[in-house]
Amino acid sequence: AGPCDLYAAGKTPCVAAHATTRALYDSYSGALYQVKRGSDGATADIKPISAGRVANAASQDTFCNGTTCVISIIYDQSGRGNHLRQGPPGGAASGPNGGYDNLASAIGAPVTLDGKKAYGVFISPGSGYRNDATNGVATGDQAEGIYAVIDGTHFNSGCCFDYGNAEISNRDTGSGHMEAVYFGDNSFWGTGSGNGPWIMADMENGLFSGFNVANNPADPSISDRFITAIVKGKPNQWAIRGGNAVSGSLSTFYSGARPNTSGYNPMSKEGAIILGIGGDNSISAQGTFYEGVMTSGYPSDATESAVQANIVAAKYATTSLTSGPAVNVGSSISFRATTPGFDTRYLMHNGSTVDTQVVTSSSSATLKGQASWTVRTGLGNAACVSFESKDTPGSFIRHYAFQLQLSANDGTKQFFEDATFCPQAGINGEGNSIRSWSYPTRFFRHYADVGYIASEGGPEVFDATSSYNEDVTWIVGNSFA
Ligand code: AHR
Ligand code: AHR
Repeated sequence: AGPCDLYAAGKTPCVAAHATTRALYDSYSGALYQVKRGSDGATADIKPISAGRVANAASQDTFCNGTTCVISIIYDQSGRGNHLRQGPPGGAASGPNGGYDNLASAIGAPVTLDGKKAYGVFISPGSGYRNDATNGVATGDQAEGIYAVIDGTHFNSGCCFDYGNAEISNRDTGSGHMEAVYFGDNSFWGTGSGNGPWIMADMENGLFSGFNVANNPADPSISDRFITAIVKGKPNQWAIRGGNAVSGSLSTFYSGARPNTSGYNPMSKEGAIILGIGGDNSISAQGTFYEGVMTSGYPSDATESAVQANIVAAKYATTSLTSGPAVNVGSSISFRATTPGFDTRYLMHNGSTVDTQVVTSSSSATLKGQASWTVRTGLGNAACVSFESKDTPGSFIRHYAFQLQLSANDGTKQFFEDATFCPQAGINGEGNSIRSWSYPTRFFRHYADVGYIASEGGPEVFDATSSYNEDVTWIVGNSFA
């Protein structure tokens, strides 16, 4: 059985079922998600390899070969049509695409399920999904359950990496108008024990960790690589539950009355569904979503135990974030552009500016040093790499406002993540493309000879589609210095 078969058996059926990784019903063989291709804007539906099973990641890889892809739709498997699409503008923020949020990379969150490759939804700040016109999702004070399987190592303190029930207007319409699973270390509203990240409930105008409005020590910091996160609610009763999604059982971190402040009893749920954003389209958060559902009715702990066992049996595991020619930690390298007419230029730094210049064996020692890099273990994720300047030890290539720059390592999580890149097989068929770990739609690109991280056809000037594949493909060779 799939998770939604178990919820149905418990008389709390799924009214929304989203997963890019697998079918959530034994009998489901329809589309899991849609990808959209950078080269021509064409779309393809990705289905399970067979009914009830893991996604056919190979069909995505074939469709997206030699170009980039984003996840354009996450289909609802419940049959109610509650699909998730690009988040529209809201009260807190307008996304960079004519008000719409960014779509997630189709390759930012590779995993395996029982050894078979699949892709999760890697949400970077600025991206998000929503459905404002749903069918069957709880409204008012109606009961519902929600779970999400997420990456416990990918989070931040921005508002708000949520999955669940939100406003149909994309605006903050008041306390109690949301009921969603939140994951991250935002401490503006509520906190649990330790420094986070925590599973909390976003009920609007507050992330809640228990009965008290602020701190509830029973809600632990939790950072397993794969986490099952649960929020459920019914009249004046709600709960937070969670656990490791690859082993063991769920713990109850809170179960009891609505928070100790006005506006949440009764609830005023509106029934929209959000992923990766706040109710008012706050778009500062990051996180990774693999699968999740919303139910009608308040699931029993026993039903959730069966669902947790099903998730464990799906055997989520990590897999390589890199591909293409090896870019080995400890090696000294250079990056040569491959765009015709620019292919004698190398990525270099001039002070903090990162751009490209022609470098040859007879260039000055200074220029050779500026174009030479040492590969280090990824500061923000050890499965990827960081690039330390040869002539300025302790300084690394990072992105800032999507421009590359050379900066001293300041020891912050933001720096680590901004300085982490995952080399992959070159998009134009040679060498490597250097993907940003934290914004995986974006790759090292030279544009007007300046270094950026660029997404194909994205909202920035340097995201231009013209010569994109060549501009983001580099020959990683020996260093000059
Ligand atoms: O409740 C926390 C956040 O506050 C909500 O997600 C958002 O709508 C509001 O800004
Ligand atoms: O480059 C994109 C973002 O810009 C970085 O993550 C952040 O440091 C800056 O705000």
